[in-house]
Amino acid sequence: MPYVPPHQRGKQQEAASTEPSSTAAARAPEGPSGGFHRSGSHGNRLDSAGYGGRDAGFSRQGSTGLPRTGSTQSFADGGRGYQRNAGQPVEAVFANWQPTSRVLALSDETIKEIRQRFKVTVDVCEGEPKAAPPIESFHEMNLHKDILADIMHHKYETPTPIQAQGLPIALSGRDILGCAETGSGKTASFSIPMIQHCLNQPPLRHGDGPMALVLAPTRELAQQIEREVKAFSRSSIRSVRTAIVVGGVPMNDQRHDLRNGVEIVVATPGRFIDHLQQSNTNLGRVSYVVLDEADRMLDMGFEPQIKEVMNNLPPRHQTLLFSATMPKEIEELARAYLNKPVTVKIGAVSTPTANVSQRLEHAPEGSKLDILVALISSEVAAESSGGPPMPLTIVFVERKTRCDEVAAALREDGIPANALHGGLGQSEREAALRDFARGDIKVLVATDVASRGLDIKGIGHVINMDLPKTFEDYVHRIGRTGRAGTKGRATSLWNDRDSFLVAQIKQALSELEKGNGFAFATGKEARKEERQLAREFKSQLKMTSQGMLQTGSGSVKVDDKYAHMATAAPATAGTGVADAAWDD
Ligand SMILES: Nc1ncnc2c1ncn2[C@@H]1O[C@H](COP(=O)(O)OP(=O)(O)OP(=O)(O)O)[C@@H](O)[C@H]1O
Ligand SMILES: [Mg+2]
Repeated sequence: MPYVPPHQRGKQQEAASTEPSSTAAARAPEGPSGGFHRSGSHGNRLDSAGYGGRDAGFSRQGSTGLPRTGSTQSFADGGRGYQRNAGQPVEAVFANWQPTSRVLALSDETIKEIRQRFKVTVDVCEGEPKAAPPIESFHEMNLHKDILADIMHHKYETPTPIQAQGLPIALSGRDILGCAETGSGKTASFSIPMIQHCLNQPPLRHGDGPMALVLAPTRELAQQIEREVKAFSRSSIRSVRTAIVVGGVPMNDQRHDLRNGVEIVVATPGRFIDHLQQSNTNLGRVSYVVLDEADRMLDMGFEPQIKEVMNNLPPRHQTLLFSATMPKEIEELARAYLNKPVTVKIGAVSTPTANVSQRLEHAPEGSKLDILVALISSEVAAESSGGPPMPLTIVFVERKTRCDEVAAALREDGIPANALHGGLGQSEREAALRDFARGDIKVLVATDVASRGLDIKGIGHVINMDLPKTFEDYVHRIGRTGRAGTKGRATSLWNDRDSFLVAQIKQALSELEKGNGFAFATGKEARKEERQLAREFKSQLKMTSQGMLQTGSGSVKVDDKYAHMATAAPATAGTGVADAAWDD
């Protein structure tokens, strides 16, 4: 199935309709012979939409019911199209994976007990087979021996809950909508089955595109994912090669890698589409797709690119969506592009990790810099007088310009600090992150470009010099610390414009103290409602004599120092102010 730009598609479909659809049967999914099996393929959903025949995939255009905004123009490329290998199509293999016989013999009761212990919720679409059970040891997952060797080499002794449940479901070929808190090992949950999937495929031929594709919202995150994929494909490097495809760097090396053939591509959406348009790669062999931080990609306006990729995949493919927050938009995306996904959630959705102790400090705008300098200086001073070492500290600010200003101000005060934002060149971005990750520079001042997915060992403190606009960004930002079971701290400076978010954070904190995960609705739709609620909230705020903030829907106990929240301030309406910083 060659990629065809939108303006050519009608013609292709007409042509296709005159061709014999003899390959339809060959494309039909092979039902596995038992066990926890893939619930069919996209083929079954597409049959009625006329997916048989060479150009079957094109009939998916518009079949999702979602508008295809913004993509047509960018994909008009003079009719050249994204040509795939001219040879015969290669059918993807979805191996009939089974766990060990011990796992297969687990009773429903035991499975339930393990899921409860891991706080895993698994939802299967109506009428679909049950999902694979959670598996508490990598050794019982029937992984390829090279992958298992690499997992051991990587010193992952036991799977985290999302891995214990997510891996078996992904290995059994099912689509997944996965949600687990920040720092809980989602990357390996999709990378390990991806490598196993690639090892099962017939080898690439000259001109073939990748077998698996991971899309992520930022260059740094894509680079990090590629490193993790490489760590698990170390022993299988000859059969599973990876390429990193991100913006901000010349296309030459990427073009070279793609044209030479790689099994896995990890990419940011914009640059990947550029390569498709230049026919440096194609989607003809892609049968495993991961959208990491899918909600953020939608937020950043990558929806057309995601749709373009998803609409042009071969009919048989497996799709996995992961994030620590699950807004409604993701469920729409999942409905459109996932094939009867299994939803795997660990704990409550969209909740700040309990591994981070959170502190809120009231700070009028004009005093924020002084407070920040005093805070960091006291930690530097403590270290130099023999106290605990100053932890790596990430300071989040709202805008690129502010990022540079704050980093410069810290340096003037004798605190080495780097800035990281989308206005910097890629080499500057990489250098800033590298210095920080090595511990050469202990303070990184960043926009939200650093808020998602980044995993840097040793970050002990996240400071929100400016609070984000939304609770979900707060969840991801503070999740840069307290990862993989470690403990971390978050300090957030806030003032009146943040009062609604502060109330949400306090509510989440008090629920956490009670041992409950607390889930806020996230996403664009939720934010609209949130802004409305914020306006109502502020217009209804009343401080009672018992120190309760009385709102229309209930009351929240607040410390005296937050009492002034009751003074109504204009609701801040802007969404995604820092989004422009995510240039790619
Ligand atoms: N089974 C494991 N054993 C030990 N460490 C692990 C295991 N799985 C993952 N880790 C480590 O946990 C850290 C966090 O993993 P990862 O980046 O995949 O988290 P995440 O869930 O994707 O977080 P985020 O939501 O922030 O993207 C990484 O340093 C990773 O190496
Ligand atoms: Mg991640």
